[in-house]
Amino acid sequence: MSSTIAELETKRAAARLGGGQKRIDAQHAKGKLTARERLDVLLDQGSFEELDMYVEHNCTDFGMQDQIVPGDGVVTGSGTINGRLVFVFSQDFTVFGGSLSERHAQKICKIMDMAMKVGAPVIGLNDSGGARIQEGVASLGGYAEVFQRNVLASGVVPQLSLVMGPCAGGAVYSPAMTDFIFMVKDSSYMFVTGPDVVKTVTNEIVTQEELGGAVTHTTKSGVADLAFENDIEALLGARDFVDFLPLSNREAPPERPSDDPWDRIEPSLDTLIPPSANMPYDMHELIAKVVDEGDFFEVQPAHAGNILTGFGRIEGRTVGIVANQPMVLAGVLDINSSKKAARFVRFCDAFEIPIVTFVDVPGFLPGVGQEHSGIIKHGAKLLFAYGEATVPKITVITRKAYGGAYDVMASKHLRGDLNYAWPTAEIAVMGAKGAVEIIFRGRTPEEIAERTAEYEARFANPFVAASKGFIDEVIQPHSTRRRIALGLRKLRGKALENPWKKHDNIPL
Ligand code: HXC
Repeated sequence: MSSTIAELETKRAAARLGGGQKRIDAQHAKGKLTARERLDVLLDQGSFEELDMYVEHNCTDFGMQDQIVPGDGVVTGSGTINGRLVFVFSQDFTVFGGSLSERHAQKICKIMDMAMKVGAPVIGLNDSGGARIQEGVASLGGYAEVFQRNVLASGVVPQLSLVMGPCAGGAVYSPAMTDFIFMVKDSSYMFVTGPDVVKTVTNEIVTQEELGGAVTHTTKSGVADLAFENDIEALLGARDFVDFLPLSNREAPPERPSDDPWDRIEPSLDTLIPPSANMPYDMHELIAKVVDEGDFFEVQPAHAGNILTGFGRIEGRTVGIVANQPMVLAGVLDINSSKKAARFVRFCDAFEIPIVTFVDVPGFLPGVGQEHSGIIKHGAKLLFAYGEATVPKITVITRKAYGGAYDVMASKHLRGDLNYAWPTAEIAVMGAKGAVEIIFRGRTPEEIAERTAEYEARFANPFVAASKGFIDEVIQPHSTRRRIALGLRKLRGKALENPWKKHDNIPL
């Protein structure tokens, strides 16, 4: 009996050693943690329960029958983050470079299936050389099994990918189908084909970091959401992040008790809007002053900065925040900002997270580049996302709400539940000068100036829209938090369903 128990411990120790001490040292030398060390940081202490520790690959080609490592390059199981259940997989780069074999894929699929059955998030720690080359098509099949589950789990349980090493070829498509991607600077890469193939095909010379590093994907491509300095920061960031999310689409978002008074008055907001309509101000300031304890977890902060997206809490409950940012491109809606916000709005709607929208938008960005790249279709994504969302929607217009962008930004007409405006709001088809130059084309500069002043006096305010019921109330800026908190309380019982359909056809 005791020798059997001892044997179990020996087997466990072998599995824990992964690809061996030399490869573990190499992993550390790159500034990376091992698969198990990462889980230790991510999960509450002692909460990890491993499954499938003894799974082995089934490949007999290329001498693989003599190279068996228990666990087969991925550590899977469940644990808790601040007491809440999550399912995890963590690829072990020390075992065949974390490459995905048929059995490795089966392990991932098993925990994804369980997560969906019980309703808990899936967090994948990706560090893999892609398909296990020795296994060929069996590995490709394994990937596809994972992809299929990513699709089925989408909107059912939150899926978070931490890319913490190479991620090449088809391996990028599983993270791409998850809800959020975190990357680590200088040690993680995502690309469909690496620098060598790129050079052969297009003759472009590029480093791994430039092609698909954390900075590239969180600034230029928008593929990833956040870039962290190292593994520890990324894992701790993931812990904070998961705290904002519901466990599944069957659960309410979590509540975190807060000492921040729900009716806190912020007099400084009364002077946030600068005297000139063309002067920017930082929308972060408004968000920080509205949410509990100023705690705003921003998603995609470095991509499409003209719109801000992220999570905060009001009275301890999670809200999704979308806000035009006048500091970047005057807060205009363009292709990237529309795509970024649309995806965020859809995530919130899928997981019953109320959406608070702060509006200061001069319109859609004009230009040949934008038109030829499809601003019509991409802008429509945000319009569609807000229009289909049935979660509580509270909108506050702080300054400009011009043209089509007024409609898009969670307006009353898109089933906004509570649409507020500050007294400084200007809700109109366009800015006064542009409008007058069209209506009074060819008039003298003096007349244009006079007509502009007239137009401003008539339209650059919230009261025309309020007189039509498009704005529910013009509120004092200092009472914004109080108004939103009251609104969210009122809307807790909101029940709204879209007409039955198999699914919609969002303009992709
Ligand atoms: C099997 C692999 C492997 C793979 C790495 N290894 N990738 N084994 N299949 N895909 C092994 C190496 O042989 C080595 O084993 C160990 O992992 C570490 O690899 P190194 O090359 O020494 O590490 P490093 O220099 O850090 O480079 C990492 C790397 C490189 C950039 C990931 O290994 C690499 O380019 N690998 C191949 C990537 C690739 O082409 N994958 C297939 C993509 S196609 P030892 O024993 O020496 O420790 C794909 C299709 C999926 O994924 C399609 C789905 C739809």
